[in-house]
Amino acid sequence: MAKQKDKLEGDVYYPSQEILESSRVKDYDCLYKQSIENREGFWEIEAGKLSWYKKWGKVLDDSKKPFYKWFTGGKINIVANAIDRHLVSDTRNKLALIWEGEPGDFRTYSFFALNREVSKFGNVLKALGAKKGDVITIYMPQIPELIIAMLACAKIGTAHSVVYGGFSVEALAERISDAQSNILITADGGFRRGKPTNLKNIANDAMRRSPTIISCVVVKRTGEECFMEGDRDFWYHDLMSMPIASAKCETEVMDAEDPLFILYTSGTTGKPKGLVHTHGGYTVYTSTTFRYVFDYQPEDRWWCAADPGWITGHSYIVYAPMINGATTILYEGAPNYPYPNRWWQMIEKYGINILYTSPTAIRGLMRFGPSWAERHDLSSLRLLGSVGEPINPEAWKWYHEVIGKGKCPIMDTWWQTETGGFMITPLPITPLKPGSATKPFFGIEADVVDEKGNSVKPGEEGTLVIKNPWPGMARTIFRDPDQYIEKYWKQFEKQGWYLAGDSAKVDKDGYFWIIGRNDDVLKVSGYRLGSAEIESALISHPAVTEAAAIGLPDKLKGNIIHATVILAEGISGSVELEDQLKSHVQKEIGPIAKPKFVVFAESLPKTRSGKIMRRVLKAKALGQEAGDLTTLED
Ligand code: PRX
Repeated sequence: MAKQKDKLEGDVYYPSQEILESSRVKDYDCLYKQSIENREGFWEIEAGKLSWYKKWGKVLDDSKKPFYKWFTGGKINIVANAIDRHLVSDTRNKLALIWEGEPGDFRTYSFFALNREVSKFGNVLKALGAKKGDVITIYMPQIPELIIAMLACAKIGTAHSVVYGGFSVEALAERISDAQSNILITADGGFRRGKPTNLKNIANDAMRRSPTIISCVVVKRTGEECFMEGDRDFWYHDLMSMPIASAKCETEVMDAEDPLFILYTSGTTGKPKGLVHTHGGYTVYTSTTFRYVFDYQPEDRWWCAADPGWITGHSYIVYAPMINGATTILYEGAPNYPYPNRWWQMIEKYGINILYTSPTAIRGLMRFGPSWAERHDLSSLRLLGSVGEPINPEAWKWYHEVIGKGKCPIMDTWWQTETGGFMITPLPITPLKPGSATKPFFGIEADVVDEKGNSVKPGEEGTLVIKNPWPGMARTIFRDPDQYIEKYWKQFEKQGWYLAGDSAKVDKDGYFWIIGRNDDVLKVSGYRLGSAEIESALISHPAVTEAAAIGLPDKLKGNIIHATVILAEGISGSVELEDQLKSHVQKEIGPIAKPKFVVFAESLPKTRSGKIMRRVLKAKALGQEAGDLTTLED
């Protein structure tokens, strides 16, 4: 990719002639303008590329703002698009999924084979009593059965709630309980850095805390011993070999607005929010963004190196690629196990054309130097992508030079669990500025505003808002619609804008630069965690009465967790207690939530209304001035 300076300000990387010629979109400005002037028309054309049982009546129903509805009256199922329609074309024999386990074992599934597994498992779920409208919880390592389980749920009309396999007991229990799931799909464990994880034992503890589960299906992955309860727990392979697992399973006809899944994510309260996505709008939005942003070509092998347990994996490992008939890659383990060339080896071995990952992963691999990548043939790569947190220019350049050999544009995509798909993102033809997510996707009007809603001047920091609805937007928070309004729509109620929760800048060229969260949400290695969740885990330890968790900047992980705790009467702080508290958080939420620092204090800085002033703690931990303290109580 040529690097030159012209009209655009700063460090700009222009696409090569080859990229310009191969790109599906030749003129972003023109298509963007059309998509904004006739938003519904734009989405109608995109929706028309999919397979519907019945065409929609209205593209957008905004009669109950902010509870927007898309493609109302339409009948669809995401699986009819991700699998069924491919079975009647040549795509039937194409690889839908290439999976590699950490120990080096691998499996591949054609669309035909995937359909068989999904249909069989759909019938198993039905035999276990699953019905349209239920929510089924999935807690799995990164193995094909995770994807099969998600697709099977969608196929029979149940919503899935996937809980990230790195989460632990309390995080899982709380999600099962909020979703009121009767069925849990899990595994004995998975492999991470050469060691088996023990998911089933964690699931057992979680089911004890949250007793709604009637049936638990367990995939045998590691072969490690685990406790199976007589009439509740069943092995996946046993069920799949029974006559109930017939390979003929009708795909359920769903309303466009029927829920496809709930995905819990961290917000500013202790309780994770279950964001609800639907069969219609989400199918349209994810498939369209994938096709345009990564300029998907039928011969591409696509690798989104995320975990299917997070939105990135839902949208861009599973659904969007499969709807487009793409070959998607899933890898089970750590990027640097057994050596830091593991990913580069995968790219060479499978001839991967597009790699989409997080800044944390790039920074983590960059630490080992370029030689690990240089010993592999990475020439199959055409495009690269980044997501989850701001990418620092140094990591961007390393990714561009060492991995992309200077010829692969990097799609730095800004989006959220709430948005379903990419919102601010380059296209391959977009001139790139390292660290900027560039411009809004088609149909999206984004802005950076002050508290009153006035656009801030170029280069000034403000709040990121989206000024219009889009098909992939979460429809509500499961069983908590008031919070949905409160969190996302209240602040700019008059204008009807969506509040993203991020601060950002726009430069003179209209390029967006995301700075980070401006609420109490942390991004640890790109994973989203709430201060309040970490605090509740700390308080659940008998030695702690109060706690405040903050994120401190970290070069590798983005944020690291710093916790200040107040101990119960008669207990004094010690190094042992510090370690105990760190392990306690790890056991309750998971390793990603383990605080790096735990400090003991006599009191916490609070406002007169009793809110913890985390910014004061942050300033103190960083040795900075605390700023305006007029609202501080003491
Ligand atoms: O702060 C932004 C950051 O990730 C948040 C959303 O997190 P989550 O719902 O877990 O979804 C992550 C994957 C889509 C955002 O509010 N974020 C996401 N992508 C970027 C980013 N920050 C900067 N640049 C990005 N490309």
